Amino acid sequence: MENRAQWGTRAGFILAAVGSAIGLGNIWRFPYIAYENGGGAFFLPYLFALLTAGIPILILEFTLGHKFRGSAPLSLSRLNKKAEWLGWWQVFISFVISTYYAVIIAWAMSYAVFSFKLSWGDDTEGFLFGDYLKVADPGQVGSLVPGVLIPLVLVWVITLGILFKGIKKGIEVANKIFIPALVVLFLIIVIRALTLEGAATGLDALFAPNWNRIMDGEVWVAAYSQIFFSLSIAFAIMITYSSYLPKKSDITNNAFITGFSNSGFELLAGIGVFSALGFMAAQQGVDVSEVAGAGIGLAFAVFPAIINQMPVMSELFGFLFFTSLVLAGLSSLISICETYIAGFQEKFNISRNKAVLYGGGLSAIISLLFATRGGINFLDVVDHFVLSMGVGLSGLVEVILIAWVFRKLGAMKGHANEISDIRLGSWWTICLGVVTPIILGYMMIQSIWVDIK
Ligand code: PHE
Ligand code: NA
Repeated sequence: MENRAQWGTRAGFILAAVGSAIGLGNIWRFPYIAYENGGGAFFLPYLFALLTAGIPILILEFTLGHKFRGSAPLSLSRLNKKAEWLGWWQVFISFVISTYYAVIIAWAMSYAVFSFKLSWGDDTEGFLFGDYLKVADPGQVGSLVPGVLIPLVLVWVITLGILFKGIKKGIEVANKIFIPALVVLFLIIVIRALTLEGAATGLDALFAPNWNRIMDGEVWVAAYSQIFFSLSIAFAIMITYSSYLPKKSDITNNAFITGFSNSGFELLAGIGVFSALGFMAAQQGVDVSEVAGAGIGLAFAVFPAIINQMPVMSELFGFLFFTSLVLAGLSSLISICETYIAGFQEKFNISRNKAVLYGGGLSAIISLLFATRGGINFLDVVDHFVLSMGVGLSGLVEVILIAWVFRKLGAMKGHANEISDIRLGSWWTICLGVVTPIILGYMMIQSIWVDIK
């Protein structure tokens, strides 16, 4: 245990945690979620969720990893033998996510290359599902799509290559390159988008507060889900990453830095995406609501259409946009894979290399399923399943187990306070023991209720 791998520097750990947090969720999920759930008014439940659940849980997970120095299952089992399964559950969700997250990064890689010649043509949606993904060809459902296969292999070679190199020389070095590069590229994108005609209309659509929505339960559910997904909490990730912290580390401060950096990037993405959507709406003479959206459609159909209409240097804008998706995606994928690599390594007592090979290899093989003509439709279904099962529920179980079943919040607080500058007060215990379980519990009951109806 004494020779457990460690981060080389404090900045290395923070960049890795921020790299995990900043992902596709920031760029293609947050802007639309905010827009759809009250616009400017959404920021109130969002901030509430960040401050009472997001950052407190991040502090809890950093403490667990730092204190027990193990993968999520091992750390949780050291907290209490009966908690190991929760770690495996979170690892399992991460494993499933890794199988399709890789495919989306592969698409973004293709599109970065397509940007050079705007190869997607005028009918960007037809290109995405027809020429590129070939889902329009129902005769060959099982066959691999060559255009996806090549970048997908590349994604796995890069990701597993970094993971083979270990914590300090692999994950830390990669994030020290990826994250600063991502921030620079993304700032250029946002500034360019802001200077497009119609940008102000887009920003208006995003930020205009619809206060009527503030008491709507759905809006609160959206805020909490976004915080959990976006901060990579309750996915075994942050426990794993913090298990590589040196003994002397400031946990609480690191958690605040990670939380605020992720939300800052989210806000930046909202500004960039909605400026671009405002431009698109102005070009077509339609309302922003006609072009606003999220996910695959936004990134791979709407954005190419926006890029087509840019007056100058559209190719460069496209290249920067898709390259940022790749960088944001890769740094998250690495963290997702590290959860099961660490888990397998410790559970089966195998070398890191073997764990990377077996765990990553298995995920890579399964990801091929999503690179087939039929598999692409499957991606949405799995994503929906994972989001409803993984986000919220595993967070709720985590706080209830630790706060009420094993009654360990006090011990965790003590450990965090021993090594951190900022001292946790009773606000932390109340947020995790009372506020978060009540709100998440209410959310779960409501969503089950909606499902039954
Ligand atoms: N947090 C990252 C995002 O916002 C990636 C991620 C999502 C990681 C879900 C783990 C689980 O996209
Ligand atoms: Na995020």
